[in-house]
Amino acid sequence: MAAPTNIHPVFNSLLTRADKEKLLSQHARVIWLTGLSGAGKTTIARQFEIELNKMGYLTQILDGDNVRTGINNNLGFSEDDRFENIRRIAEVSKLFLDCGIICINSFISPTKKIRQMARDIIGNENFIEVYVNASLAVCEKRDTKGLYQKARAGEIRNFTGIGAPFEPPEHPDIELKTDTPTIAESVAQGLEMILPLIQYKKF
Ligand code: ADX
Repeated sequence: MAAPTNIHPVFNSLLTRADKEKLLSQHARVIWLTGLSGAGKTTIARQFEIELNKMGYLTQILDGDNVRTGINNNLGFSEDDRFENIRRIAEVSKLFLDCGIICINSFISPTKKIRQMARDIIGNENFIEVYVNASLAVCEKRDTKGLYQKARAGEIRNFTGIGAPFEPPEHPDIELKTDTPTIAESVAQGLEMILPLIQYKKF
């Protein structure tokens, strides 16, 4: 969609993101979890949030299933709708970033193009791509929501991994293998890499 005319946004507020990060003693980032349905994105996002909260960090989780019942409740799972889903989420994440808040996003975000779009909106320097990597076979076996079974039965079209593609990230910033149930280890491994990026540094 072309940018609207007759709109005059003002982006130069008196307080900057740096002022807000100073107040919060943290550096804002978007921790972007990508992976198949059932790979463990939501579980890891919640554990990240709990652990970061204990350490004094202010975070906000954005999660596919939740966001799709609210701001994105008019979107389905066609390629265009997934693109719009992620575009809106990326824009919302940017608002949190500007407020100095660490966003933990949990979205399948199935294609390289979709994730690149999110990265472009959010800014490369703010974007931490975390690939929550469980194989399709394992996700399908877990089938926590019963959706794989429905997809195999032809009741859900375009289900990621069955009737729609998932392109694994080639060079994620962090890869957490979740085929075996080692959530605590995955969380610890992820946080070890994330903490140096959000710890407050005075310049
Ligand atoms: S995304 O592809 O646009 O990034 P998103 O993460 O928001 O997807 O939503 C995925 C969640 O929606 C899944 O965890 C699952 O519970 C539900 N869902 C319903 N239909 C589908 C579908 N066709 N493909 C994938 N997930 C689906």
